[in-house]
Amino acid sequence: MRQGQIAIALPKGRLFSESIKLFEATGIHGLEGLTESRRLLCEDSTGAYRFLVLRPADIPTYVEYGATDLGVVGKDILLEQERDVYEPLDLKFGACRLVVARPKNLQDREGSVGFSSFRVATKYPNLAERYFTEQGVQVEIIRLSGSIELAPLAGLCERIVDLVDTGRTLQENGLEEVEGIASATARLIVNRAALKTKYRQVRELIDRLTAVVQGERA
Ligand code: PRP
Repeated sequence: MRQGQIAIALPKGRLFSESIKLFEATGIHGLEGLTESRRLLCEDSTGAYRFLVLRPADIPTYVEYGATDLGVVGKDILLEQERDVYEPLDLKFGACRLVVARPKNLQDREGSVGFSSFRVATKYPNLAERYFTEQGVQVEIIRLSGSIELAPLAGLCERIVDLVDTGRTLQENGLEEVEGIASATARLIVNRAALKTKYRQVRELIDRLTAVVQGERA
C-alpha cells in the first residue's frame, strides 16, 4: 500500500452500488473499474484511496485487523459479530429488518401438535440464539451461508432468522414473518488504530461522508 493511502472495504451484493455512489458523491473519482468489470481492487484517480470489494461478513474482520482502514457494512453484521471497530456514521441506505419467519402452512400443524423446540436456520447464529434465549424458547440453531428461505421448505428447520427488505423472498417462497428482531442500515466502520495514525486523512473522509449523508438524505 502506498504511504498515507487509505484502504476502504466495500461490500458485494445489495449494498454495493449505493456504497460506490456514496464515495463518488464525496468527490472521489475512478471507481468505474469496480462497477464495469470483475475487478475486486482499485485505486481512485489520485491514488489517495484504495478500494477492496469483499463479502459483507468479512468486512469487520478486515477493518478490525487494519487490513483496510475503513469499511461499509450492514448493522446486522455488526450486531452479529461484535467486532472491536469504531462506528462513526449511519449511512442511512440499505434499510432492512432482521425477522423470524416460518412457512405459512406450518401454522395449522403447530396449532394442533405444537413444537417443544424449534430448529432455526440462519446466517446470524449469535443474534438468533440471544433472541430466543430472551424469549425463553428452546431452539437448535443451524448455521447456513445463504438462501436461508429454502431451509424450511426442504425440511431442515421450522423457523428462519433472516433479513427482509421488500419481503419478496419470503412471499415467493411461501414464508411469513412471525416477529421482528432488529432494524439495520449500512454503517461506516473504522479501524481504531488508523483513527490515530492516519487521523487527518481519516477524519477528513468521515467529515465528507457525513456531509453527503446529511445533505442528500436529511
Ligand atoms: C437477502 C436476505 C433475503 C433477501 C431479502 O439475501 O437474506 O434472502 O435478501 O430481500 P427481500 O425482502 O427484498 O426479498 P441476499 O440477496 O443477501 O442473499 P443470500 O442471503 O442468499 O446470500
